[in-house]
Amino acid sequence: MTRKKTFIVLEGVEGSGKSTQSLLLSERLALEGIDNLLVREPGSTNTGEKIRNLILQATELNPLSELFLFSAARSELIQNEILPALKSGLAVVCDRYTYSSIAYQGYAKGLDPNVISKINSIATERLEPDLVFLLDIEPELSFGRKISDSKDRFEKESTEFHNQVRKGYLSLAKSNPRIWNILDGQKPKKEIQELIWQKVSNIIA
Ligand code: TYD
Repeated sequence: MTRKKTFIVLEGVEGSGKSTQSLLLSERLALEGIDNLLVREPGSTNTGEKIRNLILQATELNPLSELFLFSAARSELIQNEILPALKSGLAVVCDRYTYSSIAYQGYAKGLDPNVISKINSIATERLEPDLVFLLDIEPELSFGRKISDSKDRFEKESTEFHNQVRKGYLSLAKSNPRIWNILDGQKPKKEIQELIWQKVSNIIA
């Protein structure tokens, strides 16, 4: 069966549950007979994973360099994984995408959103998702969910920083309701999974 391109993105603050929901969505698609590729940003390519480690572990990195590194990892992912997968008819589920750069490097770190959008367009060849799910939750609540001994650079940021990230996401979501869906990240995992599936099954029907 030929299907139109299906590219789905999940976004949210740390601990919002988007990685769990990305995996559940990928498994559900497979169960329904829809071959798919699950990827995460930054990463999911050889070079992208190296860039990921570099960004997360760096002791010194200004926001602009950070943006370029995320964009380089994104370009690797687009060229080597996402575009070929979509071309061969696979659905793609992506844990974070260009919106993370606008929320983190833009809203929280103060880079010009127009500059970020331009770089995003170049890195992605203007590829836009069909659906974006924002797992919206207050950072104060989601942080308690992350069980980890060592915190990366972003997890060490203040609550105020993460509140700015959340604000950025909400504003992006509200500006494009055609593709964005805001979900209450405090709802039970199963319930969120069902809400996501309802929307996804609509577009692949
Ligand atoms: P990760 O451990 O994947 O976080 P999470 O599990 O919450 O997705 O680390 C990725 C970090 O990088 C995360 O804190 C968000 C940040 N990030 C940006 O700041 N800009 C970006 O463009 C992307 C893709 C991620």
